[in-house]
Amino acid sequence: MYFKDTYMSSETLQKLNWRYATKKFDATRSLSAEKIHILKEAFNLTATSYGLQPLKMVAIQNKELQQQLVPFTMKQQQVADASHVLVLCVETEMTSNFIETYFNKVASVRNTPKAILKPFETFLKDSFAEKEAEEINQWMEKQAYIALGNLLTVCALEQIDACPIEGFEPEKYDTFLQLKEKNLHSVLVLAVGHRAEDDMFADLKKVRRGVGEVVIEM
Ligand SMILES: Cc1cc2nc3c(=O)[nH]c(=O)nc-3n(C[C@H](O)[C@H](O)[C@H](O)COP(=O)(O)O)c2cc1C
Repeated sequence: MYFKDTYMSSETLQKLNWRYATKKFDATRSLSAEKIHILKEAFNLTATSYGLQPLKMVAIQNKELQQQLVPFTMKQQQVADASHVLVLCVETEMTSNFIETYFNKVASVRNTPKAILKPFETFLKDSFAEKEAEEINQWMEKQAYIALGNLLTVCALEQIDACPIEGFEPEKYDTFLQLKEKNLHSVLVLAVGHRAEDDMFADLKKVRRGVGEVVIEM
């Protein structure tokens, strides 16, 4: 069934239509501490496969540093002008120790006896041990994309302007931000802040294939 007025009546859809990939931020405006707090919590609340959270987010609010990121970001000025630049990173490897730390946390947070958790813990340790490093990296990067999607939706709901950015050089970010030393590898960038009043992209109509084309009902 097609709901004629959904586009207009759903607050959620209105907010999702409000958001767009911001091309020009107002460099004079900063997001409030509360909005940044919401984004950090939303990142932490992101669902991940097995709940392992092989992710970290670097939150940069430093105009000098941000300007220096521009050449590593295909010259995209958004990273310089945004209020904050969020760099979504994955672990460089999934160690048995990492998995153990997760299960210890489950046990303490939920008061679950370790004996109940042990079979699943052993299964996960064994299954990751059998995988190639590249396969694990790809799996972790998928988790970073889930976090990006979650953050983009939260930005829409919270009226935070954002530009998701894949157009950057992860190796250069890793070196410049000393991520390798933290056992991290950058995967995605999200510039957040306030749109500039003259960002012409704000008024462009959404280009989408349409529900009739992208949804198959069975
Ligand atoms: C994973 C991902 C990477 C993207 N990378 C860039 C980017 O590097 N630079 C940019 O300006 N927009 C980037 N975009 C924005 C898309 O071009 C944009 O979301 C798409 O054209 C739909 O437009 P809208 O978000 O304004 O509705 C990216 C979007 C996604 C989801």
